[in-house]
Amino acid sequence: MSKSKQLFQEVIQNDFCFEQKSMKIQNIKSYNTVMALSYFDKFFWLDKLDSTKWQDFVDYGCADGFLTKKIADIFPEKNICGFDYNAEMIGYANQDCNFENLYFTSVLPYSSDVVLLSSVLHEIYHYGDKAQIESFWNWLETAKPKYVIVRDMLNDLDGKPIINEWVVKVKNKYPKFVKDFEKKYGDINTERNFFHFLLKYSYKENWVRECAENYFACSLSEVEHKMKTLGYRVLHKDTTTSPYFKQKWERDFVFFVGDNYQIFSKLIFEKI
Ligand SMILES: C[S@@+](CC[C@H](N)C(=O)[O-])C[C@H]1O[C@@H](n2cnc3c(N)ncnc32)[C@H](O)[C@@H]1O
Repeated sequence: MSKSKQLFQEVIQNDFCFEQKSMKIQNIKSYNTVMALSYFDKFFWLDKLDSTKWQDFVDYGCADGFLTKKIADIFPEKNICGFDYNAEMIGYANQDCNFENLYFTSVLPYSSDVVLLSSVLHEIYHYGDKAQIESFWNWLETAKPKYVIVRDMLNDLDGKPIINEWVVKVKNKYPKFVKDFEKKYGDINTERNFFHFLLKYSYKENWVRECAENYFACSLSEVEHKMKTLGYRVLHKDTTTSPYFKQKWERDFVFFVGDNYQIFSKLIFEKI
């Protein structure tokens, strides 16, 4: 048994771990490949969190463990745990995993010094019902991490019109995907819908599930409020347009969105 597995042995099967309601991912390998492309931005916290102040780290919603393995590699002396409620993901994560300090599980860890929520909160809010969302926050309260790292599509994008030339380019390139999207969310000619679409068209092999998933299901103000209620202060806050996506959209559509649209939020919370 690895060192890390022993450390996280106290995991408990508890009420907080709700069953997966999400539609099955059609092509899990393709899903994980697309997701991994933007991984660089997901390490924003590396130089902001003092590594002498933590020992145990949970990557909550780790998927196939692509990020978790990098974290385990960077911090060989720390205990790293990748948790995902999707057992199939954990199966992939465990393939070729030879890190002594890393443990993957689909059972919720009991506690941790750090909890990373990378692109997970919007899924918890989209796929979970009210009680399940509350269960997640209850778990966080019980786990009492010193630090909670959040990176997600938390923003205040609204119904303001977006540059028409951009809309035309996107509609011309992906008419079928745009049609599906607009049926569910309305015209892509607003800032909110435009960027929501741009964040998901790459999941071509998992389009049905991704189109249905509301990436903006959770708001920045709600997360900040919730964390404050749980006794956390903001250690770091940054709202950005991810460099990866800016370049990708420029390549795909020949327009440059610049830094005018704050699509992602990157936050580190510290327990007071
Ligand atoms: C968009 S992926 C993000 C993967 C990875 N954290 C990253 O940033 O690349 C979201 C992952 O969270 C998992 N997930 C969603 N809701 C969850 C929940 N309530 N509990 C545990 N895992 C969850 C999904 O199974 C999926 O693997």
